[in-house]
Amino acid sequence: MLKTIFILGTGFLLTALCMLSISEAAVIAVDYGTNWFKVGLVKPGIPLDIVLNRDSKRKTPSVLTIRGEERIYGTDAVNLGARFPFNTYLSLKQIIGRLADDKYVQAYQSVFPNKIIPDPLRGTILFQHNETTVFSIEELLAMQLSYARELAEATAHESIKDVVITPQYHIFYDMGAGSTKASLISFKTVEMKDIGRFNKTVINMDVISIGYDRTLGGQEIDIRLRSYFAEKFDKTYEGKLKESIIKSPRAMTRLLKEANRVKQILSANTETVASLENLHEERDFRLAITRSELETMITDLIKRVNGPIQDVLNNAKMTLADVNSCVLVGGGVRVPAIQSTIKDIVGEDKIAQNVNGDEAAVLGAAFRGAGLSRQFKVKEIKIKDIASYPIKVDYESELKESEDGTMNTKTYRTILFDEYTSVGTRKIMSFKRTSDFNFSINYGNLNENILKDFGPTDIAAAKITGLSDIVKKHNDNGIEQPKLKVTLQLSDSGIVSVIDAVATIEHQTISDKIRTFFGVNNNKSDEALKEVPFSDESAPPDNASQPVPGENDTQTNDTEQIQKKIESIPLNLEVEYLGIKPMGFNEKDAAIRRLRTMDETDRRRRAREEARNNLESFVYNLQDFLSDQIVIKVSTDKQRKELAAKSSETSEWLYEEGEDAPIESLLTRLNSLRLLEKPIVYRRDEHARRPEAVNAIQSAINSTREFVEKIKGNTTVERYHTDEELDKLLNVCNKIEKWLDEKLTEQNKIEPYVDPVLTTVEIERMLREIEREFLIVATKRPPKRKATPSATTDSESTNNVNNTDSDQKSTTTQVVKESPTHEEL
Ligand SMILES: *[C@@H]1O[C@H](CO)[C@@H](O)[C@H](O)[C@H]1NC(C)=O
Ligand SMILES: *[C@@H]1O[C@H](CO)[C@@H](O)[C@H](O)[C@H]1NC(C)=O
Ligand SMILES: *[C@@H]1O[C@H](CO)[C@@H](O)[C@H](O)[C@H]1NC(C)=O
Ligand SMILES: *[C@@H]1O[C@H](CO)[C@@H](O)[C@H](O)[C@H]1NC(C)=O
Ligand SMILES: *[C@@H]1O[C@H](CO)[C@@H](O)[C@H](O)[C@H]1NC(C)=O
Ligand SMILES: *[C@@H]1O[C@H](CO)[C@@H](O)[C@H](O)[C@H]1NC(C)=O
Ligand SMILES: *[C@@H]1O[C@H](CO)[C@@H](O)[C@H](O)[C@H]1NC(C)=O
Ligand SMILES: *[C@@H]1O[C@H](CO)[C@@H](O)[C@H](O)[C@H]1NC(C)=O
Ligand SMILES: *[C@@H]1O[C@H](CO)[C@@H](O)[C@H](O)[C@H]1NC(C)=O
Ligand SMILES: *[C@@H]1O[C@H](CO)[C@@H](O)[C@H](O)[C@H]1NC(C)=O
Repeated sequence: MLKTIFILGTGFLLTALCMLSISEAAVIAVDYGTNWFKVGLVKPGIPLDIVLNRDSKRKTPSVLTIRGEERIYGTDAVNLGARFPFNTYLSLKQIIGRLADDKYVQAYQSVFPNKIIPDPLRGTILFQHNETTVFSIEELLAMQLSYARELAEATAHESIKDVVITPQYHIFYDMGAGSTKASLISFKTVEMKDIGRFNKTVINMDVISIGYDRTLGGQEIDIRLRSYFAEKFDKTYEGKLKESIIKSPRAMTRLLKEANRVKQILSANTETVASLENLHEERDFRLAITRSELETMITDLIKRVNGPIQDVLNNAKMTLADVNSCVLVGGGVRVPAIQSTIKDIVGEDKIAQNVNGDEAAVLGAAFRGAGLSRQFKVKEIKIKDIASYPIKVDYESELKESEDGTMNTKTYRTILFDEYTSVGTRKIMSFKRTSDFNFSINYGNLNENILKDFGPTDIAAAKITGLSDIVKKHNDNGIEQPKLKVTLQLSDSGIVSVIDAVATIEHQTISDKIRTFFGVNNNKSDEALKEVPFSDESAPPDNASQPVPGENDTQTNDTEQIQKKIESIPLNLEVEYLGIKPMGFNEKDAAIRRLRTMDETDRRRRAREEARNNLESFVYNLQDFLSDQIVIKVSTDKQRKELAAKSSETSEWLYEEGEDAPIESLLTRLNSLRLLEKPIVYRRDEHARRPEAVNAIQSAINSTREFVEKIKGNTTVERYHTDEELDKLLNVCNKIEKWLDEKLTEQNKIEPYVDPVLTTVEIERMLREIEREFLIVATKRPPKRKATPSATTDSESTNNVNNTDSDQKSTTTQVVKESPTHEEL
């Protein structure tokens, strides 16, 4: 019995651990682009790789169609796009985080037919999906990201990808669908001390500088091609059309898709034909186009290719000669004219060929994710990213009397994080002020060129209060003016936030008096002093962490002890983050509820499909079941006929009304079939298991008896079991043996198609009873030997007797040892 428990236990543990590693250890990375998204996955035991989507493709169109309660993603959504242009959402990345009146949003609206309305509270984008439903752009994006997660959860994976990087300078030229970015990156291998006496090799990856063209991208090419096609179409049917093709969202959506296809074909061929049947007002579209025609349409775009490269070099004060290679990333660089322009600029020999540009970003992100998660051993890469824009703080001085006797303030503007500050940096601003004040944080020193595309430059407005009160109190107590320290952070994601504001007071005072100095806040300020005494680099030297008042209480005496103390008191800090406001609580709540409802609908649809599959496979497998020899033995003709009839009726129903039947009808049908099947299955299983169970209990009885005999018959060892105990165990054996014999006789008299009188459940119960009684006897410990004057104090010797109790323990520990070792990457 113990063995059975042990196996069950092990099995359970294994299952539990596997589930843990699936749900907790996997890291996924999503490279969400304007046209496509890619999903990377790292999981213990599975190499870093791209997740395949349901079409076994490595990238999925960033497209979503919502039809009724159903959501359709990727290629299927692209295909539905032409039929349901208003309910299909494309290229959302171009406008996420923008205000509805932004010029990019206007440009988007001229391309896509979806109806955009401004969010009344935030000014951001809402889509009027139909008369009754509005989706925020955030919700639509959330749906696609959770779909990406589903893909990662569902997909199987392929072979290892080695990432090989040499330390050097590289330009990553990334032209996506909507924007282009060049980054100059240096890789260095650095030897670092690892644990113990070992060195480890770490790759330092530093982003040196960045160059942008925020509107240069592959999609602009599609749009131009489409305009060209539309113009040609209108011209071809001039005078025959009721209205221009431009007025038909459906036709324009199809035309955009065709433009993208033609662009891709022209990347590998010099000419092709654009062709769409029944495009607009029942007229077909057919047009031959050459690569050079396409290139003349985009000459101005090609001229802009160089911009980001020059910017990145200028910013880094380097020349192309310093750069080892240029890695082309993103879909945009596939266009031959663009690729050859880059080759002309940097030199063909510097174009890195070994990187799959389209996938580099998501693999990198997955790699980074794995590094951050601490669950994985990845080759260590230290990454230093930088802020792309300088960030400054504006504030006004306190009122001061100027030379002419008037009271004035002065405005200060200080660059806090300059353009190439590493992300993940904290700064402390120190002020000498005596009253509450405010300051603002914004992007500063932007040139005209950047400003024109930039949108709002304000980041946050902060207000500090509580200072005036403290100063007033201090004045009353004759203590020095406080200093004010405000901590700001540029997060790893490049987001600026105000962490805290504290007033610090340095005073020479009597230690005990400090405790009551701030009255009600007494406890708090003590804590603050312990927790945050200037943990930052720019703080004054460490004298701040002097003994906390009170620690030395036992030493204070009548002679008052003078100490120098620095105390920090948190101030009230209100920060309003400007720019795009986060979703309000109610909106977020409503969005979450709506997404849950849709998820629930998805879940119900899947549950229904599952119920249907179960019913189908029941019907399908029934014939096999009914022709099984044991089943025939343990059931009557009548029972089998009834089941067969019900099953064939269900089969007919399934392919008629059952096609659209609700889950409840499917489940009811399955249940009524199972109800007929169940007693037969029960008898079949009992029939199969009974002999084994009978054998098990008989041998348990036999070995228990042998065990008792052995104890009774052993004369070499002093016996410590009483006859009573041993007889009780034997009696249990006899009683159960008698029960078994009777039941067996009875069972042998009845037909196999009648429910058994001797069941395996009962046998199991009896087996437990024997086991319980057996353990009482077997685990009894011998009495401790009385210590005699002549004996040594060693009473442990009695423990030399082997007992089953400790056997049992070792079995239990084994279960724990069974846990599998964690797989590593
Ligand atoms: C509007 O769209 C939602 C979501 O697709 C859907 O649930 C609802 O039934 C639609 N309403 C109408 C009137 O079509
Ligand atoms: C470890 O690296 C240091 C330099 O950082 C070097 O001097 C030393 O020799 C290295 N030790 C080993 C064992 O490689
Ligand atoms: C910030 O303070 C200045 C004066 O110091 C004042 O003019 C301005 O209105 C204040 N702004 C806020 C948001 O309180
Ligand atoms: C200080 O803290 C103690 C317990 O931590 C509490 O009982 C006491 O009321 C607090 N005093 C003040 C002034 O907050
Ligand atoms: C810090 O304390 C040391 C001695 O403990 C003293 O020499 C030094 O001047 C102090 N520094 C400051 C800034 O008070
Ligand atoms: C108490 O103060 C003395 C000097 O003022 C110092 O040397 C000692 O470490 C302090 N004790 C504690 C427990 O902080
Ligand atoms: C009180 O403290 C002072 C300085 O710490 C010390 O010199 C003096 O001996 C102490 N007096 C008593 C009575 O403990
Ligand atoms: C139990 O013992 C009896 C009699 O000694 C023997 O006939 C029988 O085969 C044994 N059964 C098992 C399962 O060991
Ligand atoms: C009696 O028990 C002892 C200790 O368990 C064992 O070593 C010995 O072999 C047994 N003798 C017989 C006759 O079973
Ligand atoms: C305990 O059991 C082991 C193996 O089962 C045996 O070698 C050893 O002699 C036993 N010790 C005693 C004290 O019975």
